[in-house]
Amino acid sequence: MEQGKFITLEGIDGAGKSTQLAWIVELLQEAGCPVIVTREPGGTPLGEQLRALLLDKSMAMHAETEALLMFAARREHVDQVIQPSLAQGQWVVSDRFTDASFAYQGGGRGLDMHKLEALEQWTLGTLQPHLTMYFDVPVEVGQLRVNQDRDKDRFENEQAEFFRRVRAAYLDRARQFPERIKIIDSSQPLADVKMAVERTIRALISDG
Ligand code: TYD
Repeated sequence: MEQGKFITLEGIDGAGKSTQLAWIVELLQEAGCPVIVTREPGGTPLGEQLRALLLDKSMAMHAETEALLMFAARREHVDQVIQPSLAQGQWVVSDRFTDASFAYQGGGRGLDMHKLEALEQWTLGTLQPHLTMYFDVPVEVGQLRVNQDRDKDRFENEQAEFFRRVRAAYLDRARQFPERIKIIDSSQPLADVKMAVERTIRALISDG
């Protein structure tokens, strides 16, 4: 059976990933690609419990604990959901994956990138997404878009400076892996963002 493809979406909080996620699913389904949607941290029963701990703003933790929990959830996600789905010919779209650990724990929290690379190697081996869409917005735009009335989680509560480091780390990753990571300018009008997403997805589908 043909293998499915693995697509991940990234961006700082408020970059508009969720809107584009729905659009990507629509595009894939129209093209006849069976698709499952999942997210990180989360995607499995254990992962969703770890997510609740990680996002709980009353839960203080060391930055390395945070990174280890992200990778623990990811290990389970890969084993239980991502690899079996790809093997069954499904396309997998994940709202965040490993690049988020490099951006948030590496860039945001300042953890040593080599330690994160070691964790990546240990837990994932050579598994990488076929395509990562990084939705780029200036920090001020992202912060305005995070619903101001909503109760903010442990990450959304961080200051602008944190998100500037996260954004810089994402942009570094995109420069480091230009074949895999496509930067989508998410500060454009919505119709233009959707068009950029559509071009990228169609190119991946026709890649075979
Ligand atoms: P997010 O995906 O933005 O969900 P929602 O749209 O429901 O707020 O929330 C997940 C948060 O977890 C986000 O702030 C980024 C953070 N995160 C990390 O810090 N490291 C990681 O490896 C992952 C996957 C997420």
